[in-house]
Amino acid sequence: MIDFLLNGQPRHFAASPDTSVLELLREGLGQTGTKEGCASGDCGACTVAIGETGPGGQVRYHSANACITPAHQLQGRQLVTVEGLAQGVTLHPAQAAMVECHASQCGFCTPGIVMSLFTLYENKHEGETTSPAPLTPQRLEAALGGNLCRCTGYRPIRDAALSMNEYPEQPPPWRDAAAPAPKAEDADAAFAQPRTLAELVELRRRYPEAPIVAGGTDLWLEVTQRLARFQRVVDVTRVAELQVIEATTLEDGREGWWIGAAVTYSRLEPLLEEHHEAFAHLLHRLGSAQVRNRGTLGGNIANASPIGDTPPVLLALGSRLWLAGPEGERELPLDAFFLDYKKTALNQDKEHEGEVIRAIFLPRPEPGRHLRVWKLSKRREDDISAVLGAFSWRLEDGVMRDVRLAFGGMASTPKRAVAAEAALEGQAPSPGAFQAARLALAQDFQPMSDVRGSAHYRRLSAANLLERLRLVLLGDGQAQQGDHTDRDVMLHAYAH
Ligand SMILES: Cc1cc2nc3c(=O)[nH]c(=O)nc-3n(C[C@H](O)[C@H](O)[C@H](O)COP(=O)(O)OP(=O)(O)OC[C@H]3O[C@@H](n4cnc5c(N)ncnc54)[C@H](O)[C@@H]3O)c2cc1C
Ligand code: FES
Ligand code: FES
Repeated sequence: MIDFLLNGQPRHFAASPDTSVLELLREGLGQTGTKEGCASGDCGACTVAIGETGPGGQVRYHSANACITPAHQLQGRQLVTVEGLAQGVTLHPAQAAMVECHASQCGFCTPGIVMSLFTLYENKHEGETTSPAPLTPQRLEAALGGNLCRCTGYRPIRDAALSMNEYPEQPPPWRDAAAPAPKAEDADAAFAQPRTLAELVELRRRYPEAPIVAGGTDLWLEVTQRLARFQRVVDVTRVAELQVIEATTLEDGREGWWIGAAVTYSRLEPLLEEHHEAFAHLLHRLGSAQVRNRGTLGGNIANASPIGDTPPVLLALGSRLWLAGPEGERELPLDAFFLDYKKTALNQDKEHEGEVIRAIFLPRPEPGRHLRVWKLSKRREDDISAVLGAFSWRLEDGVMRDVRLAFGGMASTPKRAVAAEAALEGQAPSPGAFQAARLALAQDFQPMSDVRGSAHYRRLSAANLLERLRLVLLGDGQAQQGDHTDRDVMLHAYAH
């Protein structure tokens, strides 16, 4: 049974463990305002807002793709859909502005766009006390980058977003309504929601075959695209230990943070903004707001896609993983985690059956260490990379030290280019050293051709990213302030 508030009204509903929020709404509850476009998290037509009560009793909403959100994760939450916004004949400012700006034609995308604008509007006082945070182009792009419209065009939608704040504020009556109290955990529930690591590990021992779900932004595509059926699912999003971000010092003296595996990208962003600018900027190019609100670092790593965005960055930073399972806990360097295509050190043998990622070690930036991250994809917004390069190094007396070069999209796993690293280690960043590193990439990688890029394109662009790194170093040496910054993440290039 799922207990939640739908537009302020208590709901109590039974659903199979693989039901999505979209199915629950449209087929279970007859609420058809939320549309299905792609059923894969790409178009945003199904966007809804999910509210969680914070420590001060105030509800914070995040936008989510209903098509790939497990319905059971609504337990104890508020769900807001386009049907719930108007009060009688008075429209919510997000709706009124869309009407006024003629921002809808066929209307298929409109409920999703209105819900993205709703979350932007309702969270506008976040981190502020009195005046709303200004709607900068970056905030708008971040809020609407996951909503596609094929017929109106984006200018009227943008105008609507920019004018929302001119409408009188009228908080919906259910704005801060208390969601149903959490129910006592039933360990045998088909959709299990353990609260502690001990409960999670016990569930893994009893049901090692049951898939784990965090944000569902990868796993739920199995249901919507491959029509998989799950008899039992174990949800890690309520496990307290997997939600923590804590500062730490490793045994080798390195300082940093253990990031709980179920921490979402949206929650991680402020820490990255403060300490790892290049990594933070990559997040702006990872999926959409809807995906970043739900997707987790643990899910990105466990999914082990060769084109996942964060593993190359974490490899370049020298990250480690903290794993936990029925046979105990262990730590290992991220380098040792990816074994082959979609094969990882999790469950690698009997001794490690049922393991989960508990946390990911993110090192604090060392003085003098640099990080550059460049992502190549066919589209700037909401697209998976064809090739991603993450490079980290120190310059000591004019030579490069501790060089770590990691790539996505070049092998069956995210992988370091150890031969290219060796070509640069201890060398001045000269054209000759970089030429040797580019040639060494042939020893490191034999990439494949697929829809995102040919093997030739991948080889060429990986080498070009190294050349770009050389030019950046040259530019830094010539001290043109502001020419190249750590934020310079996305090349506006097209894979072919
Ligand atoms: C529209 C769209 C755009 C996307 N864009 C990008 C992109 O630009 N870059 C990118 O890298 N990815 C992208 N993704 C993929 C996805 O969002 C990320 O990989 C995300 O980090 C997955 O996290 P999750 O919490 O949703 O994982 P889930 O889908 O919940 O899980 C993914 C896998 O990890 C396992 N798992 C989850 N947590 C744990 C744990 N703690 N321990 C062990 N196993 C675990 C699950 O069993 C599953 O096999 C996109 C996805 C969509 C739908
Ligand atoms: S239907 Fe397209 S994102 Fe959900
Ligand atoms: S109004 Fe038709 S898709 Fe946007």
